[in-house]
Amino acid sequence: MGRVSVRNVSRTFTKKENNSETEALKNVGFDVEDGEFVCLLGPSGCGKTTLLRIIAGLETLSSGEITMNRIPITGPDPKRGMVFQQYSLFPWRTVMDNITFGLEMQGIKKIEARIQVEKYIELVGLEQFKNSYPYELSGGMQQRAAIARGLANEPEVLLMDEPFGALDAQTRNILQDELLKIWEQKHVTFLFVTHSVDEAVFLSDRVVAMTSRPGRVKEIVDIDLPRPRCRTGPEANSLRDYILKLLEEERLER
Ligand SMILES: Nc1ncnc2c1ncn2[C@@H]1O[C@H](COP(=O)(O)OP(=O)(O)O)[C@@H](O)[C@H]1O
Ligand SMILES: [Mg+2]
Repeated sequence: MGRVSVRNVSRTFTKKENNSETEALKNVGFDVEDGEFVCLLGPSGCGKTTLLRIIAGLETLSSGEITMNRIPITGPDPKRGMVFQQYSLFPWRTVMDNITFGLEMQGIKKIEARIQVEKYIELVGLEQFKNSYPYELSGGMQQRAAIARGLANEPEVLLMDEPFGALDAQTRNILQDELLKIWEQKHVTFLFVTHSVDEAVFLSDRVVAMTSRPGRVKEIVDIDLPRPRCRTGPEANSLRDYILKLLEEERLER
């Protein structure tokens, strides 16, 4: 079960010094179904990270409600994992020890945690690097480790904030393929933030396209394409074209 329901969510940040307000999100609403892969796409600064952090329970909302499996979210929970944009690994811990971290936090003994994470290390193809430190890894491998760490807690929902944003195009494509394989193997719901239209059309079942700030839902686009997907097929191209135009409108309206 990994159903997330976002209802009428608004978030305004107030600067204490001068009481100035930034409206980051305004009346955002959408559902992510159990086992679905949803991409959240929108211009920079439209509140994507804020929304993901609220869903993770790391940030509060000003009004509205978010539920998971019909229960309101009030704080972090291992059922909701998060993978950040980049380099969120602890530099002083090996790959293995980074991935076991969440389990240790849950009170699982290190030795047991290690046994449990072996399969995730294998899943992301890092067996050869499990005793390496983050600085010894390429960006792609670091993100593999971050994904394994996100999965090791066996979350029902994995929230990913532009996890491939800093990678070169080729590595990015490889990790997208691998992420889809993982998604198909594990029964996990994915909510994936990106500003790449290509990435959203390749990965997701649905794209939630947001407006510029204050972020609202502009349109929800079904990506009804069979998998494995062709990146350059005519259907993918026309969906890309359609979504690019939605985003273009936001630029013009600013
Ligand atoms: N903790 C915060 N305090 C004040 N303003 C914030 C905070 N977090 C985000 N914001 C503001 O909210 C808006 C949305 O930010 P963010 O969620 O990071 O957007 P995105 O991830 O879509 O680029 C931005 O204007 C940002 O400056
Ligand atoms: Mg962001």
